Amino acid sequence: MSLLELDGVKVHFPIKKGLLFDRTVGHVYAVDGISLKVEAGQTYGLVGESGCGKTTLGRSVLRLVDITEGSVVLDGTDLAKLPGEEMRRFRRRLQMVFQDPLGSLNPRQNIESILSEGMVAHGIGKDQEERREKIKSILDKVGLPSNALSRYPHEFSGGQRQRIGIARALVLEPDVIICDEPVSALDVSVQAQVINLLEELQEELGLTYLVIAHDLAVVRHISDTIGVMYLGSLVEEAPSDALYAEPKHPYTKALMSAVPVPDPEVEDQRERILLIGDLPSPANPPSGCRFHTRCPWAQAERCSTERPQLRDVGGGHRVACHFADEIAAGTLARTTGEVVPATREGVEDAPVSEELAAATVPEQAGPPEQESTKAETAEKTDAAEPAEKAEAAVEAAGQAEQAEKAASAGKPGEAAEAPEPEGAEAPEPEDEEAGQAEEAEKAEKAEKADEAGKADKAV
Ligand SMILES: Nc1ncnc2c1ncn2[C@@H]1O[C@H](COP(=O)(O)OP(=O)(O)OP(=O)(O)O)[C@@H](O)[C@H]1O
Ligand code: SF4
Ligand SMILES: [Mg+2]
Repeated sequence: MSLLELDGVKVHFPIKKGLLFDRTVGHVYAVDGISLKVEAGQTYGLVGESGCGKTTLGRSVLRLVDITEGSVVLDGTDLAKLPGEEMRRFRRRLQMVFQDPLGSLNPRQNIESILSEGMVAHGIGKDQEERREKIKSILDKVGLPSNALSRYPHEFSGGQRQRIGIARALVLEPDVIICDEPVSALDVSVQAQVINLLEELQEELGLTYLVIAHDLAVVRHISDTIGVMYLGSLVEEAPSDALYAEPKHPYTKALMSAVPVPDPEVEDQRERILLIGDLPSPANPPSGCRFHTRCPWAQAERCSTERPQLRDVGGGHRVACHFADEIAAGTLARTTGEVVPATREGVEDAPVSEELAAATVPEQAGPPEQESTKAETAEKTDAAEPAEKAEAAVEAAGQAEQAEKAASAGKPGEAAEAPEPEGAEAPEPEDEEAGQAEEAEKAEKAEKADEAGKADKAV
């Protein structure tokens, strides 16, 4: 039996209407029948578009939202059925690390107080002295000095705050940690450090993670198994390598088709699948296969009427698509959508990272928090990465950096509104060459903005 098992979990939020008497006029089908297993000591990565229900699923595991239907079994105990007091005790074994490290730490409490709170609630440590010693050893594990105890959250950088968030989870000695977008609010250079820290802690303490992210690069780096979510359901699940080597669901294929390949020859052959339309509303999901309104392979009758179940197609690879086998064999023709070649020229002309931006599942949240405090400078230099992690850290940081650059390149409005260099509006007649160069530069910018617009439309 797996350490954590979700079976048919549904979370439907009622939509209420009426001034005096609340009437339920519909539901938001945020999570709509998810079954997955997380093995002890492993990491399950969950990816999906903004609003597809990732956070709601994570919160439902901790019973922070009511589960409409289904079971969440931790180590043989169904949490969905536990009475309140017992569930409170069980929460020690399930901890959450949040996306916004500052927002999740009380600004009026110092670090010792923040970290002691949960320990007191769960009766860990016989007195404050013992708790303090434990906190100091955990702070050391997450790479923070023991003098951090008397400081307040605002005195730390974003990366350090996330380390505090991880320490807060660790002091309770949990079995499973749910990391909800653990690095997406962090400076790109700090993202790899936090990911590596999570991996090191997992190795040392035998932790089990459910990592939620919209960034395929982050999830790939850390996960043993990856689940891809679309509109409240899992559409594909596979061991990390298998999913990246051969995605089988059209949605995953479209996401992966946007990831550049380092081999120039393979890159020349690569095609990008551009999806049409936006994510439908979870309050009014499409009938049949929820992806049929955007699927390039959707088949008239069956896809719009019959909902595909997640089925095993071999090697632990599960796919929710009626036609996964035909699509893999190349015997089913595409009916909609656009496929464009991802040529080397395109990759070089537009920023390379445009491809990665498309590979990052769209997020509604604002741009990543930028930190430039002294504390952060210390953060960037203090963590001594073990040699074997260094290479992976560089790779992840590079990918993340490319993705961030691409995020700004991917906003056509901004690109078009970028301030012109001084004198660009009225070139001097005698400086004809310079004028022509500027004209060419403008044309190139317009072209890039157009390209970026296309990238935005891609998944
Ligand atoms: N308490 C709530 N009441 C009503 N609707 C909710 C509630 N919480 C979430 N939702 C809705 O459920 C859907 C899923 O939200 P959720 O936050 O789980 O998405 P997400 O995948 O985590 O998105 P993001 O990547 O932006 O964090 C959204 O449409 C959201 O508006
Ligand atoms: S079931 Fe049909 S619409 Fe859904 S993913 Fe497969 S081909 Fe596309
Ligand atoms: Mg979320």
